[in-house]
Amino acid sequence: MEQRKISFIGSGNMARSIFAGMLSSGYKAANITATGRDEVKLKNLTDCFGIHTTTNNVAAVEQADVVILSVKPQMMEGVCADFQSLDLSNKLVISIAAGISAKRLNEMLGQEVQLVRVMPNTPSLVGKGMSGLFATANVSENDKDFSGDLMAAVGEICWVDTESGINNIIAAAGSAPAYFFLFMEAMQKEAIAQGFNQDTARLLVQQAALGAAEMVVANPELELSTLREQVTSKGGTTAEALRTFNEHNLSDIVSKAMQAAVQRAEEMEKLI
Ligand SMILES: NC(=O)c1ccc[n+]([C@@H]2O[C@H](COP(=O)([O-])OP(=O)(O)OC[C@H]3O[C@@H](n4cnc5c(N)ncnc54)[C@H](OP(=O)(O)O)[C@@H]3O)[C@@H](O)[C@H]2O)c1
Repeated sequence: MEQRKISFIGSGNMARSIFAGMLSSGYKAANITATGRDEVKLKNLTDCFGIHTTTNNVAAVEQADVVILSVKPQMMEGVCADFQSLDLSNKLVISIAAGISAKRLNEMLGQEVQLVRVMPNTPSLVGKGMSGLFATANVSENDKDFSGDLMAAVGEICWVDTESGINNIIAAAGSAPAYFFLFMEAMQKEAIAQGFNQDTARLLVQQAALGAAEMVVANPELELSTLREQVTSKGGTTAEALRTFNEHNLSDIVSKAMQAAVQRAEEMEKLI
């Protein structure tokens, strides 16, 4: 991966997962700066990762080629206000904040920047993330490649051509780990009702989910429906369980849930 001077503005969970992934992919710690408000937390980051840290956001932005805005959405306006007097024209700005449009970020920064919006998800914390990326029209191919490589350090990436596509990424990947947790919770609950203790019920569900996901990854040439059909014998137990899901329109429930996520993302964009 190309080495550039990167500053993370805000060094919480998501920023940490990204720079940890970058470091394990060979990125030089000397090229990474992370900012925060708490000197003790920052010293821990330096001790743990060998990166530069500072409480001075403006100095971090000034010395960076790439600025990653990684504070909580509600903190973004206050943080960006300090950058309004800086010339950001030669920098790539990457925002990982949920629900803040490119237009709004440009307003907050007081200038039109070369901006990539990234929507990561929580499995990025364990290197199994799925990030959606959107670049504004003024971002170069080289900067797009750099942004993609950056997020590929914590999982898979998917570019969207329109900014509204980021909200579809939220529905299909950003919020999606919670859908699977909910499904697993429901299965664990029923396994307990059928006589297993909590830990065993969790193990059964966890391994089934992990195994199914690994099979999907290992067989890219097979449709998901084919994988399902391959483990469903006619008249068997699996067929009976799937018939029950279908009778209750699982597919319809999933569609409605994903549409609700998009709608909420659109509403949230209007609030910030
Ligand atoms: N976590 C996810 O799964 C996820 C998924 C998609 C997108 N995102 C986005 O990622 C961003 C960060 O989320 P997160 O989960 O990493 O949050 P987080 O753990 O709370 O991290 C935010 C960090 O920003 C720091 N901060 C707050 N104000 C600051 C300031 N004025 N200057 C410098 N640093 C400041 C906080 O420091 P203190 O410790 O001092 O408060 C904290 O370390 C959010 O915009 C979120 O929308 C997260």
